[in-house]
Amino acid sequence: MSTRFIVLAAGKGTRMKSAMPKVLHPLAGKPLLTHVLDTLAALDPAGVTVVVGHEAEQVKTTIDKDTDHSVQWAAQEQQLGTGHAVQQALEGIAEDDTVLITYGDVPLTRASTYKALLDVCDDQTIGLLTLMMDDPSGYGRIVREGGAIVGVVEQKDASPDQLTITEVNAGVVSIKGRNLISLLADLDNNNAQGEYYLTDIHAQAVRQGLSVQAVHPEDASETDGVNSRVQLAALERVHQLYLAEQLMNSGVTLADPARIDIRGTLVTGTDISIDINCVFTGHCTLGNNVVIGPNCVITDSHIEDNSIIHANCVLESARLGQATNVGPFARLRPGTELAKAARIGNFVETKNTQVGAGSKINHLSYVGDSVLGENVNVGAGTITCNYDGANKHQTVLEDNVHIGSNTALVAPVKVGAGATIGAGSTISRDVPAKKLSLTRSKQTDIDNWTRPSKN
Ligand code: UD1
Ligand code: CA
Repeated sequence: MSTRFIVLAAGKGTRMKSAMPKVLHPLAGKPLLTHVLDTLAALDPAGVTVVVGHEAEQVKTTIDKDTDHSVQWAAQEQQLGTGHAVQQALEGIAEDDTVLITYGDVPLTRASTYKALLDVCDDQTIGLLTLMMDDPSGYGRIVREGGAIVGVVEQKDASPDQLTITEVNAGVVSIKGRNLISLLADLDNNNAQGEYYLTDIHAQAVRQGLSVQAVHPEDASETDGVNSRVQLAALERVHQLYLAEQLMNSGVTLADPARIDIRGTLVTGTDISIDINCVFTGHCTLGNNVVIGPNCVITDSHIEDNSIIHANCVLESARLGQATNVGPFARLRPGTELAKAARIGNFVETKNTQVGAGSKINHLSYVGDSVLGENVNVGAGTITCNYDGANKHQTVLEDNVHIGSNTALVAPVKVGAGATIGAGSTISRDVPAKKLSLTRSKQTDIDNWTRPSKN
C-alpha cells in the first residue's frame, strides 16, 4: 500500500488573461504548482501525477527544469471536467494505494491538512476537505443527511434549498485506489455543465455503502484557489503576512509585518531587526543581531552576526562576515565577500570581490574582480578598471594599503602591503610595498586671470 497524489492543472485560467499557464504564475516568487509539489513532497509519496492540458509543454518544461520533483505527467486534451481529468491520471495506481487528489492552482494547503485527509481514508471511507463559508457562491455544496455527507452538488445544479448550504467542497479528496477506479467508471456528464464531475463520486459511494468523512483546513487560505490576478495578489498578501508572523515568532522584529516580502527561504537567528519594504529572494540567511534598514533588496545572500545593512541596499549572492557595515545605497553584486568588520559605504558597487577584515570602501566606488587584504582603505571615487573590452582582470590590494580618492586602478594590477596611492592617480603598474605612488600632472597657478563676466 502506498500513497499517490494526483494534481489537477489542465484548466485554462482564462481570467488570468495571460500567455503564461495559470499554475506557473508565481506566489512568493514560486509557481503556484511548485508550492503544491513542494508540500506534497514533504509527505513522501510513492508518486505524483500532474494532469496538464492548456500550455502543457510550458508547464512540464518549467517544472522539470526549475524543480527536482520527479513528476509523472498525464495529458487531458479537452477539459471535460474534474472527474475526466482524474481518469487521465489512473496509470500506475493500484487498488491498494491511497490516492489524494488536489488542484495545482490552490497553493497554500498545508501538509498537515493533506495528512489529516490521508489519515481518515480507508477501504470504507473517502476523505473530503470542506469548510464553512459565509458566501459559498461558486462552490460545490456539501449535502448532509442526519449529519452524514450524502453527496456534493455543484452550484449550477443545486436546488434553491441546496444553494443555502454554507459548507463547501474545497476540492481535495483522499480515496482508496480500488474505490476511485470503480467510482470513476460510473461517471456521466448529465448535469448543468455537461462535465464529468469528480464530485459525483461521493453520492455514488454513499449509495454503495461507503462513507465520506469531512476534514477541515486549519486556515481558510489553505483552500483559496487562484483564478484571477486579483485573487493572486490577495493570496500573496495573506501568505506574506503568515511568513512575517513566523519570522516574528522566531525572534525577528519587523517594523511593519505588512511591508516585507519573502520570495524564497529566509533563515534567521535571533534579535534581528528588519525595517519596512525589504524584499528577500532565493535563499538568504541572517545571523543574530543583524539590522536591515528600509528598502533593501537581498537575494541569495548570507549575512553574519552583528552586521548592519543601511537603507536602500541591493545585495545579490553576497557573503558578509560578522559586524560588517553596508550602505546606505550600496550595491553588492555576485561574488562579493566581506570579512569581519568590513565596511562598504554609499554609492559603492562591488562585484566578484573579497574585502578583508576591517577594510573600507566608503564612498562612490566601483570595485570588481578584486582581492583586498585587511585594513585597506579605498578612497572616494576609486574605480577598478577591470575590463579591457574583451577580458576581465584582477586587482589586488594587500594589507594596509591606502588608496587616495579618485584613483583608477587599471587591472591586472597589484598594490603591495602598506603602499599609499596619491589621490587622482591612474595606476597601471604594480606598486611596491610601503611606497607612495602617484601619477599626477603638476599644478599650474596662473597670475592675473579674471573670470568671464556676463555681457
Ligand atoms: C470544483 C468542484 C467544486 C469545488 C471547487 C473548489 C467539481 C465538479 N467541482 O469546481 O465542487 O467547490 O472546485 O474550488 O469538481 N481541471 C482540470 N480539468 C478539467 C476541469 C478542471 O484539470 O477538465 C482542474 C482545473 O485546472 C482546476 C481544478 O481542476 O485546477 C478545479 O477546476 P475548476 O474548473 O476550477 O472547478 P470548479 O468549477 O471551481
Ligand atoms: Ca476553481
